[in-house]
Amino acid sequence: MDQNIFLIGPMGSGKTSLGRRVAPRLGLDFIDLDEELERRCGVEVAVIFEIEGEAGFRERERELLAEVASGRGRLVATGGGSVLDPRNREVLHAHGLVVWLRTSVDQQLRRLERDRRRPLLAAPDRRERLTRMAEQRNPLYQEAAHLIFESRNRPMPAMAEALHECIRAHLASVPDAAKRSTGQ
Ligand code: S3P
Repeated sequence: MDQNIFLIGPMGSGKTSLGRRVAPRLGLDFIDLDEELERRCGVEVAVIFEIEGEAGFRERERELLAEVASGRGRLVATGGGSVLDPRNREVLHAHGLVVWLRTSVDQQLRRLERDRRRPLLAAPDRRERLTRMAEQRNPLYQEAAHLIFESRNRPMPAMAEALHECIRAHLASVPDAAKRSTGQ
């Protein structure tokens, strides 16, 4: 398969874990946008936030997404905030099949319980922070997505199997989805 697939959704929706498992089954190269950014910058995302602020991080995220999206045959795990910039939503939608991993705040809290690396989670009340983010971002995920996958509380291997099947069925049911979503 030479089209791209983009996983979008909030922190803790499983973009990285599921993407890593599903990409080889679809014959796609896996790229995690945050990991790629960290590799190129030589520092963690939290350090980029600290030095350049969120605006600096968003600029780097936008440039990298545009570059990665211009390639083919990739399954890309995006950062949870990549849909905030309308230019990114356009790039995503035009260069691949966009799958929203929809989840609940309860689920996010469980999955992110031990996380101390994500700067936007460094809040006294995580539930409140994640709820506010969901209110702001869910309409944007909805706008950018071609397909919605319910990322619920199931073991990772079972969920990866379900996501793979969901993508496969979608591509089979909309035969020109690949062409439309790669702009051909
Ligand atoms: C962010 C999500 C993070 C990372 C950064 C900002 C966000 O990625 O890009 O900390 O704005 O939601 P994950 O969704 O992979 O955690």
